[in-house]
Amino acid sequence: MKLGVNIDHIATLRNARGGFEPSLIDAASIILKEDIHALTMHLREDRRHIKDKDLYDIKELGAKINLEMAVDYDIQKIALDVLPYSICLVPERRLEITTEGGLDVCSQKEKIKEFILPLKEKNILISLFIDPDIRQIEAAKYVESDYIEMHTGSFSNAFENGEFEFQFQKLKEAAKYAQELKLKVNAGHGLNYENVYLMKEISGISELNIGHSIISHSIFVGISQAVKEMLELIN
Ligand code: PXP
Repeated sequence: MKLGVNIDHIATLRNARGGFEPSLIDAASIILKEDIHALTMHLREDRRHIKDKDLYDIKELGAKINLEMAVDYDIQKIALDVLPYSICLVPERRLEITTEGGLDVCSQKEKIKEFILPLKEKNILISLFIDPDIRQIEAAKYVESDYIEMHTGSFSNAFENGEFEFQFQKLKEAAKYAQELKLKVNAGHGLNYENVYLMKEISGISELNIGHSIISHSIFVGISQAVKEMLELIN
């Protein structure tokens, strides 16, 4: 399984004082020395962490960027200029602390299909961040997405309570169904050093996108070591 490291929280910390510390570029340079697949960055409408310039700076480092974004035409313009390696469409609500719940593809199939067209024309791989739900997977197939990213938030919460079997089963079944439809499967949200081992039991997951737990752990062991430890757990 490949690892995408979400670096939004480094930008959150930097923005807390409105200055330049910690440097996102320095952190990204260190992370890129590890055997990771991509750096994941979410350009939110309110720019609460990643700023437009960050995308250009990280692109200049030569990193593969997995850009998380809402179905928003202003952000699409920036994406078409930056040309990230991949884009993961996520739902976005202003007051949420993090991305809560998956994108409802079913209710906006035609809109999403049209929205991703110019991005696909630029050879950007498209992923949709959805709950492990059969109807959403079918909608992802309909809009001709390359990937789905399964929202593992409910599983991660359930893991904390020790009763995760139901949510885990849902992820397994969703991953299987998506692959039957020839969709590639990623997963992320709330994954950490304790629960991530279970992702290896779901066959065919291409990549995990992990942010909060890695950046939190890096406070104690440093960012290289935090990434190394996660890589060891998933491989
Ligand atoms: N994948 C997506 C689509 C996300 O929105 C997030 C959170 O930004 C993550 C993965 C990573 O979640 P976490 O920070 O909980 O590891």
